[in-house]
Amino acid sequence: MAAASVLQLATSVCSPRVKLRVPTGHRLWLRRCPQERLRAAAYKVTIEHAGESRVVEVEEHETILERALDEGIDVPHDCKLGVCMTCPARLVAGQVDQSDGMLSDDVVAQGYALLCASYPRSDCTIRVIPEDELLQVQLATADD
Ligand code: FES
Repeated sequence: MAAASVLQLATSVCSPRVKLRVPTGHRLWLRRCPQERLRAAAYKVTIEHAGESRVVEVEEHETILERALDEGIDVPHDCKLGVCMTCPARLVAGQVDQSDGMLSDDVVAQGYALLCASYPRSDCTIRVIPEDELLQVQLATADD
């Protein structure tokens, strides 16, 4: 009986979305990269939208928008870059990192957020709001 071949993969396999196909009769040996050993934290995020509330698990390296869309929650969005302000929300509880977004610090301090620029840093609740609400706050803050 021939010994099964062993494939050694030295590249990073940190992403949970990596799919590997191994030929029949071969075994795969994976080296763990340092980031994988640290395991990304995941938080329970309650998304309130259109009169419904859904709890999803969001890893710290993904945005709430990405997870919402993956879960089939039809939240408004466009650029996914924190620029167009089409994904406004209000942080009801918990913490998110939105250092990639374009909202001013004053607006963030009032609890506003952009779903596409919000990375959870604790279990949290976030409510999708009308675009106009965030625009008014952003403009009022700019006038100060
Ligand atoms: S989708 Fe454009 S700012 Fe979020």
